[in-house]
Amino acid sequence: MTLSTQIATEGCAEVAPFLRLRGIAKQFDRVAVLRRIDLDVPRGSFTCLVGPSGCGKTTLLRVLCGLETADAGAILCDGQDITQQPAAARHMGLVFQSYALFPNLRVEDNIAYGLSRRLSRSERHRKVNALLDLVGLTGFGRRKPNELSGGQQQRVAIARALAPEPSVLLLDEPLSALDAQLRLQLRGELQTLQKRLGITVVMVTHDQAEALAIADRIAVMQSGWIEQLGTPFELYCHPANRFVAGFVGRMNFLPATVAGVGAVVLPSGTALALDTASLPKGTAVELGIRPENIALTGPGAGAGIILPLRILGREFLGASMRLDGVHEESGTAIALDLPLHRGMALQAQTHIEAFLPAAHLHLFAAGTL
Ligand SMILES: Nc1ncnc2c1ncn2[C@@H]1O[C@H](COP(=O)(O)OP(=O)(O)O)[C@@H](O)[C@H]1O
Ligand SMILES: [Mg+2]
Repeated sequence: MTLSTQIATEGCAEVAPFLRLRGIAKQFDRVAVLRRIDLDVPRGSFTCLVGPSGCGKTTLLRVLCGLETADAGAILCDGQDITQQPAAARHMGLVFQSYALFPNLRVEDNIAYGLSRRLSRSERHRKVNALLDLVGLTGFGRRKPNELSGGQQQRVAIARALAPEPSVLLLDEPLSALDAQLRLQLRGELQTLQKRLGITVVMVTHDQAEALAIADRIAVMQSGWIEQLGTPFELYCHPANRFVAGFVGRMNFLPATVAGVGAVVLPSGTALALDTASLPKGTAVELGIRPENIALTGPGAGAGIILPLRILGREFLGASMRLDGVHEESGTAIALDLPLHRGMALQAQTHIEAFLPAAHLHLFAAGTL
């Protein structure tokens, strides 16, 4: 097994899905918001739903937990049809962007809210303290929500959702209201917590970088539809279409035309051998390449495209330098990442020759966005 296939299959072990959504459709005011969505969620996995604002992420999550009824389709949980079950019977924990804590209740009472009334006082106390420890808030039980920071409040919300020991934890943009530093910290904690508890998590985020960092599997949505479901590695390295390629990470696109079986031609007339699948000659396509896969021309570079670029600006990324260039002949904007020492030497207005290796070019049928 090569390293890449090993990484690609990580976290995707063949187990029967815990959650199974089949043909889920939903309209609001006769507008289709979810369009026959199929989705399998393995037990104990961390799945992220990503996509632009308004694509239906929240609606899908609400349908999943029963806050919204689907117009069509079925939801199975652990082999049981729960499509008609009310939200309360589904045993799913929920956390939203706004912490939605009860402001007048102490932290411990917020957390205890979801616990069974049948528990003894001491048992409740023990459980609440264990949950406070779990989310890193030991000793904060007597405080009121307004005496906590945003990150701490969100931890309380997570503890409260976990209190009834749900089979699934659903999170809707839980980190969006936090500042960048805290977001990074809490997303790491969330991932550790999920692995430790082995709980099944479905999290909505509009931030693809967050999803790449945290998820076992990502569903990329657009206009009420799942464009691709895969591991972060699969989405990043093998995007199914131009939309996914452009949404997950950064990708440059160059227009081209299929010149025949296994060949494309650029508007400049440059021909290139490339897998064109079954696309007929004359098909308009786009070639995609990520900034980190572009280099400066050099000896022995192999098959690829040489593109003269004018540098417009640069962005310091820390480990590398991102150069924003333009291919003047076509007006195409191209971003490339260079090692710092190479990038530092290149000022705006410099002319360079970029090399786009054929091995890193993705081919997309044009107009699939
Ligand atoms: N209760 C509702 N009534 C009418 N339209 C809704 C309702 N909830 C969501 N929508 C619409 O459905 C679409 C998807 O919304 P949503 O699921 O919230 O998207 P996302 O979470 O991906 O931003 C949007 O166009 C939104 O305006
Ligand atoms: Mg939303």
